[in-house]
Parts: sequence; structure tokens; C-alpha cells
Amino acid sequence: MTHARLTPLAQSLPASVPFVGPETQERVRGAAFDARLGANENVFGASPNARAAMAEADAWMYGDPESHDLIAALAAHLRTDPAHIMVGEGIDGLLGYLVRLCVGEGDAVVTSDGAYPTFNYHVAGFGGVLHKVPYKGDHEDPMALFSKAAEVDAKLVYLANPDNPMGSWHEGDTIVRALDELPQGCLLVLDEAYIDCAPPGTAPDLSFDDPRLVRMRTFSKAYGLAGARVGYALGHPDLITAFHKVRNHFGMNRAAQAGALAALEDDAHLAHVLDQIDGARRRIAEIAIDNGLAPLPSAANFVAIDCGRDGAFAKAVLDGLIARGIFVRMPFAVPQNRCIRVSCGTPEDLDAFAAALPKALADAATKV
Ligand SMILES: Cc1ncc(COP(=O)(O)O)c(C=O)c1O
Repeated sequence: MTHARLTPLAQSLPASVPFVGPETQERVRGAAFDARLGANENVFGASPNARAAMAEADAWMYGDPESHDLIAALAAHLRTDPAHIMVGEGIDGLLGYLVRLCVGEGDAVVTSDGAYPTFNYHVAGFGGVLHKVPYKGDHEDPMALFSKAAEVDAKLVYLANPDNPMGSWHEGDTIVRALDELPQGCLLVLDEAYIDCAPPGTAPDLSFDDPRLVRMRTFSKAYGLAGARVGYALGHPDLITAFHKVRNHFGMNRAAQAGALAALEDDAHLAHVLDQIDGARRRIAEIAIDNGLAPLPSAANFVAIDCGRDGAFAKAVLDGLIARGIFVRMPFAVPQNRCIRVSCGTPEDLDAFAAALPKALADAATKV
């Protein structure tokens, strides 16, 4: 019998999924969720033009390995050069390529304790050493991140703006100023997954080829194409070219490329969706307040709700919601885990959430 000879590093890693998917949870429950409000998807959906383009895309052909038309359209949209853009299988996929390019065994990397975990998962997969700094209040703390990066000689420092799971954000100017403290030889990975949902001025006003940072953006959120897996990195041409060394050249399927291109061209649909997201954020906040809870301000397509006690209580509230068919998630780390995180939903989704929350809170009060 032959055995795959895993590397010592691979052998040391847990074979677990960073997020347990809603489908897995549905299989365990033996029933579908009534409201899918846990994965920060866009329930309002993609542009009808994107759906049509995807339906028409012929799957017997590989996608264009250079994603040429999509990159050209993104460059025009962002008024930048195609050489500053790399398209990949969502931000998650691009983070993996970036870590593979920059992080070897033992290399230091910095993130916030409780920040988006997929980055950490990739770092672990390449043997990097993660250093974490605490949030400041409910915000990631750029100055603390950069100071830790200097202390440990980090190659990468990760910052999501707006942040998941808290929905908090920094003005772009704050990040521009903080960059003065970014140590030499350290690259800022600025995850802008939610930038389309954020107030104007949240993106730093810097040239996309600024060598100090790489920005990551996605079609999964405001553009409603999470299942198509389309993200892009914006950075210095030398870094963008380096992605070719490690990326999966045929990873971008035809339908995804065509869908993203059509979505990008439909400004009216984007404006409509952003309006729906804004309405849903307000409604989630109202529901929280009606139940004596504190919604946190959000620049993303979800709202973190402070349940007012510790992580065990918030987990009991979450379990009560899940038991009633409402899929939501919660932050992993203390003290953010006093919150549950509710994605923007349709009015019907949020009616179901509003009906379930008082019962989940009552259950939690008896359990914890
Ligand atoms: C901060 C952040 N980055 C990246 C992603 C994943 O983006 P993509 O779907 O493009 O992989 C998410 C999804 O929830 C996110 O919250």
C-alpha cells in the first residue's frame, strides 16, 4: 500500500474548515434555514445582466487565463492601469497566493486578534508565524498593527477596512497617515471586501501601484456574486506580475468572468443594492434596540449586535436563532464575541429574525 507523504507542516495542521458552512449546519439540523443571514452574502442578488451573462457562458471552454476583458474593464472603472490588477478566485484565493509568495516557514506576519480568519489559515498553511494585536474598542488598530510589525520584522500585516466581524471602519486618511509607520520590508494587505458598502472616503486616496500595500476587493459582497468566486488584487506591477508564478491559471471560469464584467457595468443595479443594504442595516439596528441590545455602527453588509454580556451568552443567543432556522454567526475572539453578526437580508428575512430574536434571548437568559 502506498501512502501520501505529507510534509511535516501539513501533518501538523488540523484538517478543519475555518468556517462551518450553512449547508453543513442544515445537514446536521435536518432542515434548511428560513433566513440565511450568517455569511455576509448579498441576498439582493447580482445584476440581471450578470445572471444572463453567466447563463450564456459556455462551460466546455476554459476561461481566459488572463481574465483580459475583466481586468481591462476594472482598470477603466478604477481609472488605473491593467498592470496594477490581478483577478483571482475571490479574496480568499488571492490571499492564499499572496501568502505563498511572501511567507515561508518561520516568517512573521501580523493581524488583529479576532480579525477575518481566512488570512490566518493561509499563513498557517505556509508555516508563517502569526502575531496578533488586540482591537482598540471595536476597531482594528492600524498603529498597533504597524508597531507590532516593526517589533517582529513582519513581512505582511493584515487590515480589513471595513472590518469583519465588527463592521467598524477607519477613514482612508487615517490609513494614509498610519502608513508612515509601516516598517520597511513589510507589505500592508488591505482587505477592502466591503468597500462598496462604506461611506465615501473609506478607501485611502493612494495610487493603486503604491508599493507599500496591496488592496483586495471582491464581487462577492455589493455585486452579489459570492458563489462565482471573483476577487481582485490592486498593487504595484512587480507584485501583480509575481502572482503569475503561483496562481491557478485556469481558476477563473468563463461564467464568473462574464458575470463579473456584466455586474461591473450595471451601476443602476449596484446603487439599488446599496440602498437595500442601507435599509437592512437600519432595520437590523431597530430590531436590536427593540430587544434591548446595542447595534454597532456598520460600513459593511452586516451589523454586529452587542448582546450585552459575555461570549457564552452571545453563543446561547446564536444557538437559539439557529434552532429557529435563522443562520447567523458571531466573532471568535474576546471581547468581540459578546456580539452576534447579522447579515443584511430581505424584509422577509428580517421579519423572521425579528420574530426569533426575543425567543432566542429568553432561552439564553435561562441557560447562561
Ligand atoms: C474581510 C473579508 N475578506 C474577504 C472575504 C471573502 O471574500 P471572497 O468571497 O472574495 O473570497 C470576506 C467574506 O466574508 C470578508 O469578510
